[in-house]
Amino acid sequence: MTRKIVAGNWKMNLDYSEAKVLLKELMAKKDEFNAEVELIICPPAPYLSAFAEVLKDQEWIKLGSQNNFFLENGAYTGEISPTQLKSLGVKYGIVGHSERRNNFNEDYSMLSKKVRALLKVGIIPIFCCGEQLQVRNSNVYKEFIMKQINDSLFKLKPEEIEKIIIAYEPIWAIGTGKTATSEQAQEIHHLIRTRIASQYDEKVAGNVGILYGGSCNAENAQELFRQQDIDGGLIGGASIDAESFLTIANAFE
Ligand code: PGA
Repeated sequence: MTRKIVAGNWKMNLDYSEAKVLLKELMAKKDEFNAEVELIICPPAPYLSAFAEVLKDQEWIKLGSQNNFFLENGAYTGEISPTQLKSLGVKYGIVGHSERRNNFNEDYSMLSKKVRALLKVGIIPIFCCGEQLQVRNSNVYKEFIMKQINDSLFKLKPEEIEKIIIAYEPIWAIGTGKTATSEQAQEIHHLIRTRIASQYDEKVAGNVGILYGGSCNAENAQELFRQQDIDGGLIGGASIDAESFLTIANAFE
């Protein structure tokens, strides 16, 4: 493990008052969080501005977006640009979550543009990849996952890709309570790191943070984070409970 990162993906959950309560609960626990962990929360976009105000002098937890457009400005009703996110103090951005790939037809070329657009303004992309259950059962899952990474990321320069965080999120594990075993997760994380090393070099591969996501929770985080190539987690359901987010963030040994 080279880094320790825990990111909470709140998805389209919580109304504004509930979200403010959760932020307050997290802030009240500030001193209990392991200070070595890079902590990120990705609340729904409408709350980013107010959250940025509250967190502006707080370096211990950073704000991330759940989605972004790939252009800087213009007539794109409803979209949010990386420049706008940056102007709020957003430091990370989830790109290519399977829920967006599936529901909004985001393909590799769009995701590649989104990643580049974030990097251009200095926001760190959290790039998601992962296979459906039928792909997992078909035994071509490794090549399927590597194609997602190859097609969207491997044209980046070394100094760009080493800034990125990759989240391996098997779709069959997301929100299902069916976590990948630590061996299944480590196998993919190791594969990703090895391929980055052969495409770039060992140093670059060591710098890329690789997170596991998919029903990661307070009970299984420690076993997952103990694996050599798992640098932390992208947490959905369990991140909207302050106590379980704290337990997960503190699960590194
Ligand atoms: P989950 O979601 O932890 O609820 O499975 C993870 C994710 O989708 O990022």
